[in-house]
Amino acid sequence: MAAHDTTAAVVLAAGRGTRFRSALPKVLHRAAGRTLLGHVLAAVGAAGVDRILVVVGPGPDGVADEVAALADRLPVPVTTVVQPEPRGTGDAVDVALAALPPEVARVMVVPGDTPLLTGPTLAGLLEAGAGRRMGLLVAVPEDAFGYGRVLRDADGTITGVVEERDATPEQRALREANVGMYVFDRAELTPVVAALGTDNAQGERYLTDVVGPLAAAGDAVAHVVDMAEVAGVNDRAQLADAGVELRRRHLRALMRDGVGVVDPAHTYVDVDVAVAADATLLPGTILEGATRVAAGAVVGPNTHLTDCEVGEGAHVHSTRADRARIGADVEVGPFAHLRPGTVLEVGARVGAFVQTKNATVGAGAKVPHLAYVGDAEVGAGANVACGVVTVNYDGREKHRTVVGEGAFVGCGTMLVAPVEVGPGAYVAAGSTITDDVPAEALAIGRARQVVKEGRARGRLG
Ligand code: UD1
Ligand code: CA
Repeated sequence: MAAHDTTAAVVLAAGRGTRFRSALPKVLHRAAGRTLLGHVLAAVGAAGVDRILVVVGPGPDGVADEVAALADRLPVPVTTVVQPEPRGTGDAVDVALAALPPEVARVMVVPGDTPLLTGPTLAGLLEAGAGRRMGLLVAVPEDAFGYGRVLRDADGTITGVVEERDATPEQRALREANVGMYVFDRAELTPVVAALGTDNAQGERYLTDVVGPLAAAGDAVAHVVDMAEVAGVNDRAQLADAGVELRRRHLRALMRDGVGVVDPAHTYVDVDVAVAADATLLPGTILEGATRVAAGAVVGPNTHLTDCEVGEGAHVHSTRADRARIGADVEVGPFAHLRPGTVLEVGARVGAFVQTKNATVGAGAKVPHLAYVGDAEVGAGANVACGVVTVNYDGREKHRTVVGEGAFVGCGTMLVAPVEVGPGAYVAAGSTITDDVPAEALAIGRARQVVKEGRARGRLG
């Protein structure tokens, strides 16, 4: 490809998104684990353009930061340009054109709030518009309310786009909707954009007003797509709908690849979550962020994992976990809470009403019920019985507990950190352990029981 013939995508993300009624810019709201802008940039990156320019507001509102954070996941360079005031989509494109390097000959324009877009849809637009002054995507929704309508003459030649608020009743009856995605010949576009005024119902510089002049020679083409690909998100109800659709697509792809999903309508898997073939997801499972689930694992029911790893054959039942590594063949739950820094090694077992944090539970070790294991290391094969607490906080600082391999810590033991129970040691039930226990020793740390005969007699009157 000649250097003067590159294609840039311009993503418009400087609008206010007032219908969201949110302090957060619209494009930073999330659906299925990614920001709206993240979804759009992923699709644009897959469309076959040479660079991406995102038009952002004067901020600082986090939009430019989000673009920078997404950059290393994209196959082409991405930069931002500031539109000083939200004076309309045409103004945003005017700002973008001035910022694009001279070798860019074609410009694709995409709004930042259409998370259902895919690479192939945009590639279809690029192809349809190739060698023409412009191409635009159109759809025919059930209800075109709110969209600009595509105007055609008697021969069907495109003559322009009119906004809902500027349309006559006859024009409003048209159902062919402009979805705000276009490809332009840059040299043809630039002077037409420069001439855009604000003589319309919203007092904005409309990008849609370039369609009439550029189509005048009959050299504009409309590429028709399914509304489900290009729907914009303008309020929180549409955001929820988009999330449902994005998760539905992701689950479909996972099932095609061999993942078992018992009830897709009640299984919530974010788009960046990976699940291997022959894993099974039971109802009520929510998998977020960078979570990875390996083959043969069973997750759920009612399990919420954020940024976790689940190893082969592990079973995680009715559990909340955040940034935890769950090894192969581990059993977790029901009703466990794994907090950040938890590592459960192969074959470990963490049972009901156990909370872990910043803790390693070694291979085959068991913490079967009602325990708190924080800032701790439990050796392979150790048994931490019911009701054991690592007393890790003295009111000022956190301290570590170490339980050696094969050690047995009896029920109801308080391990007052910093403290170490040696390998193979045995701690009697009900102990409060404040001093290290050597390997293979027996430790008993409790007051001896006293029995006073007859002293309770008459207690019930
Ligand atoms: C626009 C189209 C309309 C189309 C609809 C599809 C215009 C005038 N109208 O209307 O024909 O049917 O999209 O969804 O283009 N933005 C900026 N700077 C601005 C204004 C907007 O960057 O000054 C960005 C917004 O952040 C948004 C995108 O441009 O991502 C579209 O703006 P929006 O106000 O949502 O346009 P619509 O009213 O939806
Ligand atoms: Ca919109």
